[in-house]
Amino acid sequence: MARTVVFHSHRGGTGKSTVASNVAMLIASAGGRVAMVDTDIQSPALDGLFGLGQYESSLGDYLLGRCEIEAAAHPVGPPGLRLVPALGRSCRLGEIMATGYDVGLLPEGFNRLSAVYELDVLLLDTHTGLNNETMTAIACADVLVTVVRAELAELVGAEATVAMARPTDCRRSVVINMSPGGVDPEAARQRAEQLYRAPAVVLPYAPEISVLGGERILSEARPNHSLVTEFRQLISVLLD
Ligand SMILES: Nc1ncnc2c1ncn2[C@@H]1O[C@H](COP(=O)(O)OP(=O)(O)OP(=O)(O)O)[C@@H](O)[C@H]1O
Ligand SMILES: [Mg+2]
Repeated sequence: MARTVVFHSHRGGTGKSTVASNVAMLIASAGGRVAMVDTDIQSPALDGLFGLGQYESSLGDYLLGRCEIEAAAHPVGPPGLRLVPALGRSCRLGEIMATGYDVGLLPEGFNRLSAVYELDVLLLDTHTGLNNETMTAIACADVLVTVVRAELAELVGAEATVAMARPTDCRRSVVINMSPGGVDPEAARQRAEQLYRAPAVVLPYAPEISVLGGERILSEARPNHSLVTEFRQLISVLLD
């Protein structure tokens, strides 16, 4: 049975999609069977990051009953990695918002993906804050990763958000992303762990990511970058 790892944040733009896609790429490169689902229907990013190009089926098509979810899981990156994009040519945001869908289809689809592709890991990228998709994704988490920027005040809001979505416990972790130069990462990690009472990983701000323009993934484009080593460390915190 796959382990479901969910990337969530209380505020937007903290780096959920960036961190999740690098983690996916690295687990698959190491031989794992991985699927990523972009549950961020309102502002999807993963199809662009993975350079998916033209495709027929998406999560939205599955939710509207037009395909099975496995048909929307497109091979990307290294062998063993699949991506379910949020929307596509045949399913636009306006349509799914106007039509609505049965939210129970999400967990059903996640389970089916995991069984059909015999996944080791299922990674869910979410919309910031709380909406139906995000609440459902959090409820399905075996491991919940809260991604925050270096301002630790964000942690308080993040905790309140998660408490609403998930009354029960699951494994937790916090990523302090885009930590600026000059901040002692070990001190930041310890403060985050005290506040959050979960393992924390600090990832530095890497200007090389902006050069990629949201169209490539650092671990593929710059496999020897020091941040890639930090992503590997994060994977061991999440999955070991
Ligand atoms: N460690 C990092 N160093 C430098 N830039 C980063 C880093 N992590 C993410 N970014 C950049 O920050 C921006 C936001 O990242 P990303 O889209 O992954 O955040 P998000 O939390 O998924 O956003 P949204 O809330 O819109 O879904 C992007 O331009 C991305 O390239
Ligand atoms: Mg995102």
